[in-house]
Amino acid sequence: MSTAYQEPAGADVTLDELYQDPYPAFRWFREHDPVPWIPAAGRYLVTRHRDIVFVDTHPEMFSADEQGSLVTRVMGHNMLRKDGAAHDRDRRAAEPALRPRIVKEHWTPRFQQNADDLIDGFIENGSGDLFRDFAGPLSARNLAAIMGLRDVADQDLQTWSQALIDGAGNYADDPDVWARCEAASLGVDAAIDAVIPYLQANPDGSVISAMLHADEPLAPDEIRANVKVFIGGGLNEPRDAVGVAAWATLTHPEVRRAVEADPTLWRRVFEEAVRWIAPIGMYPRQTTQEVELGGRVLPAGARLGVCAGSANRDETVFERPDEFDIDRPPAPHVAFGGGPHFCLGTWAARAQVAQIALPTLFRRLRGLRLDEQDPVRLGGWVFRGVLNLPAVWDA
Ligand code: HEM
Repeated sequence: MSTAYQEPAGADVTLDELYQDPYPAFRWFREHDPVPWIPAAGRYLVTRHRDIVFVDTHPEMFSADEQGSLVTRVMGHNMLRKDGAAHDRDRRAAEPALRPRIVKEHWTPRFQQNADDLIDGFIENGSGDLFRDFAGPLSARNLAAIMGLRDVADQDLQTWSQALIDGAGNYADDPDVWARCEAASLGVDAAIDAVIPYLQANPDGSVISAMLHADEPLAPDEIRANVKVFIGGGLNEPRDAVGVAAWATLTHPEVRRAVEADPTLWRRVFEEAVRWIAPIGMYPRQTTQEVELGGRVLPAGARLGVCAGSANRDETVFERPDEFDIDRPPAPHVAFGGGPHFCLGTWAARAQVAQIALPTLFRRLRGLRLDEQDPVRLGGWVFRGVLNLPAVWDA
């Protein structure tokens, strides 16, 4: 997958190089300069596994509440950009909807129904882009159910999600991006406002219901900000995990044979896929004090990019880290982050991808194979995944 890096990456690595393939540069940084200042990103990148675990588990030194955060500007102040008691309050309110037992009993049957409905709609075609026709709409439909949103079209949720993500990364201050973001924000707010009265009177297992009926209920503007972080952060990642895991399975015949013989191995395919290509490759933090990290003294207020995508390829933790290998010895990947902001949707993601999406896709689309006329493309470093998944099967 990764090509050999030709020149020392140093501080002059461009965002385009990182977008195309960040792994050669990450490897160089881990070995030579593990916390480099990257002018193009306006951040120090934290690239080694042990330094990232240290950052994640010392929130008093590394704040998630970044000054001037675009996430906060675009979505409103939400749990992802809060620390301490304020973070705990938002997270506690949402968390009951995403506990493993609720995921198993409440959401997993919905995930199965959604996967089957989507496949019913295109199975007769015998070919299609499984990223566009399956991974994306399935993640949208599953997320709408988990949130308690009703009558929201798959495409609207995907458009809103992309607009919010683009806004959260709009360092170039592009007015078109702000306009799309504003439209998305209005759409999300209207969808939330439409369900609040119903969920107020009829609690169900959803996230919005949990926020309304928590011991310390969230106010409507707090619900709006936190729902936006779910929409920005709970759609792309399962979509990209489905895309990468399906692509890896289709290009590794030994893995395919193994999961066809023993479907419980889909769980290992999922974990290895999010280790190999972390759907969230980078997330931000800011130092609260002067601190030494990876041999570099960082001033108070320094902006960091915590590179989960690099930690998951750290050769001191994972042997042959660039290889996709479902038999590798267990080691702790950081695809779901760590510390107080550890992904709240971890169990929902495992259920929807490993338990439902992948086994259902490979079981129902007989003779599934890649369409050799149309190559699979990958992109991204802040978020990374396949950009298409053209496939054919026996209709
Ligand atoms: C494979 C799928 C997923 C991956 C790899 C992933 C990854 C992550 C990561 C790395 C973080 C930490 C970010 C940080 O510390 O700044 C995070 C946080 C979060 N994720 Fe996920 N995520 C996935 C799926 C989901 C899903 C399906 C949902 C919702 C249903 C979700 C909801 C959240 C929320 C609400 C947070 C913020 C938690 C907090 O701030 O306390 N995620 N996720």
